[in-house]
Amino acid sequence: MHIPTPEDFHALDRWGLVADPMAAIADYSEARAERREQNERHRRARDAHAENTAEELLADPQAYLRLLSRPIDRTKWAYLKRRKAWFHPPIGWGRFAAPGTARVLDLGCGDGDQTQRVAEFVAGRWLETDFDGFPMEIVGVDCNESRVENARRHATSPHPKITLRFEHGDAVDGLDYGDDFFDYTLATGLFEVLGDDDASAVLDETGRLTAAGVYVRDLLDEYPGLHPRPDLPERLAARGFDAVERHRVFEEPFVEEGTTDPLAVWPMNRHQVVFAETSDPTPPEARY
Ligand SMILES: C[S@@+](CC[C@H](N)C(=O)[O-])C[C@H]1O[C@@H](n2cnc3c(N)ncnc32)[C@H](O)[C@@H]1O
Repeated sequence: MHIPTPEDFHALDRWGLVADPMAAIADYSEARAERREQNERHRRARDAHAENTAEELLADPQAYLRLLSRPIDRTKWAYLKRRKAWFHPPIGWGRFAAPGTARVLDLGCGDGDQTQRVAEFVAGRWLETDFDGFPMEIVGVDCNESRVENARRHATSPHPKITLRFEHGDAVDGLDYGDDFFDYTLATGLFEVLGDDDASAVLDETGRLTAAGVYVRDLLDEYPGLHPRPDLPERLAARGFDAVERHRVFEEPFVEEGTTDPLAVWPMNRHQVVFAETSDPTPPEARY
């Protein structure tokens, strides 16, 4: 990936997310997903991407993800933050900004770019509603030290009442926080990298740590070493989190040619986005 130019950023602006941050939801249809399958360019892009899978990832995915060293330049970080906004529509995020939400966890936060989007969303919603804010901590946790360092280097709190914190931690082993410590948890692209036993352990841990609701974005297409799980909403429901919204989205706006991302970072994959809530959350006064 080259260093993105201003023109590359303008190309992303043309995706229309400023006017409609949820644009990906209406853009997706099963008919388009079918047409994508018939598109030779898309199939070639997907095969090329699959062939690039590192041998070490296939051999031991968790060790590979833990040890990978991948410092990221600020311009690339900012580009990917916008690029990924397409397939992370902020469904349910209004709950994060509601008075009383004090702790949000981004589990498997990577470089912290989507954690930053959450913080900006909350600060923006407070401004729109003329609300002064509520002391809030947004915590990103990742098992990869170099990605935690990237997040610490590039993410900044957009509001004096929001603290952004990034920690090294392993969601399979469990985090050192009490039950229901967080009001909400996000897991974007986390379950897709976990094998079945690890995914079950992380779903259990997510349920243990989270009082009110969960936002998940996860891959639905098959790739070597990755694990699409169309039944993730049912697995969340089994832990007490019922989907109040679930959508399929493409990784970027649908076009017949296959991509309009000037950097062609990923093929136009399919993902699911889910916001799930507990019916009877433990009230904050019983938790803090
Ligand atoms: C596909 S990336 C997604 C990163 C980020 N959430 C995003 O949406 O851009 C998956 C992330 O999960 C992290 N991860 C994988 N296994 C983990 C584990 N057991 N505990 C914590 N993080 C983990 C990886 O290090 C990686 O940063």
